[in-house]
Amino acid sequence: MKVTGLFLEVLGGETKNPPPIWMMRQAGRYLPEYRATRAEAGSFLDLCATPRLAAEVTLQPIRRFDFDAAIIFSDILVVVMALGHGVRFDEGPKLEPLTTADTLDSNPQNWTKAFAPVYEALGLVRGNLEPSKALLGFAGAPWTLATYLAGGGNDEQKNAKLWAYRDPQGFGRLIDLLSACVATHLTGQIKAGADAVQIFDSWAAGLPPDLFERWVVQPTADVVRRVREAIPSARIIGFPRGASQSGLEHYAQATGVNAISLDGSVSLDWAAGKLETVLQGNLDPLALVAGGEALRRGVAGILQATRTVPFIFNLGHGILPPTPIEHVHELVKLVRAAA
Ligand code: CP3
Repeated sequence: MKVTGLFLEVLGGETKNPPPIWMMRQAGRYLPEYRATRAEAGSFLDLCATPRLAAEVTLQPIRRFDFDAAIIFSDILVVVMALGHGVRFDEGPKLEPLTTADTLDSNPQNWTKAFAPVYEALGLVRGNLEPSKALLGFAGAPWTLATYLAGGGNDEQKNAKLWAYRDPQGFGRLIDLLSACVATHLTGQIKAGADAVQIFDSWAAGLPPDLFERWVVQPTADVVRRVREAIPSARIIGFPRGASQSGLEHYAQATGVNAISLDGSVSLDWAAGKLETVLQGNLDPLALVAGGEALRRGVAGILQATRTVPFIFNLGHGILPPTPIEHVHELVKLVRAAA
């Protein structure tokens, strides 16, 4: 099936008004139909591992809001599980803190076996998605996955940073293994039907420039290079959440991604002038919870700043569970009214 449409045209470098729209975490707890399917699955991890149900929740936000892209329902931590490290979800991810890469499984055949349900779900979604809608795969970036592994699932980078400072060689082995596994998974997702993939570096904030270069930019460039070795035309979006302006400029030049997703702290006027790449973002998820004037003002500012550049409308981070569904309908209406 030949997939075209607004999302892929913009990701390929075209400027469109109105822009395409999708939302990070668009399948999730703010939707009653998601909560029902999750209850049927039993748990979040069972939902991820059951292709029929994962495909169903992937399609739910497309049916309801007619977004321009679907993102496969899974989690960034499937890579950690494929490496043989246990993950539990109990109000957020819980992991046994890792101190050496030596205990991880480095056999790519085992990785691919672990990823099989994701690939099956992608095939099911593609068969039920109009050709004008793009299907996205994704993975966590090596640095962000390392922060979960080193920190036991805490939402902070302290343990990963300490490991990187004290034992750069050992930490480098972990990052290399993660890069190989992430690249394998992104390649597998594209082969299974994803039209593009996004790399989530959710914990890229606050790194000194030399650490940002060594543990965010270089591993991401390595992942991009490996994926394009297998699939030269692979389309890749990077999301270095919380990176500084100088960090973003460097990331845009050095990683080889086709587009950068920006968090809500970044000025799109600045980004449209400085970053020579396709942009995605960056409405504050709380402005969507608030609705009303905050939502209208936020959307208008974003659309105004990005009129003359290739741009994909998204949030600055994942949609929050208390988001009213009516506000999402209004967001789509506001964006589609742009001319
Ligand atoms: O975007 C989508 O709709 C696709 C699915 C998706 C999920 N997680 C589903 C999910 C995607 C793309 C992710 C990525 C992800 N997972 C990231 C990167 C994006 C980001 O938010 O920075 C991260 C850091 C994770 C790790 C993770 N998974 C955390 C921290 C949590 C708990 C936080 C929370 O929201 O409860 C999860 C669980 C998770 N992943 C849920 C969903 C829908 C909630 C599970 C549930 O209780 O149903």
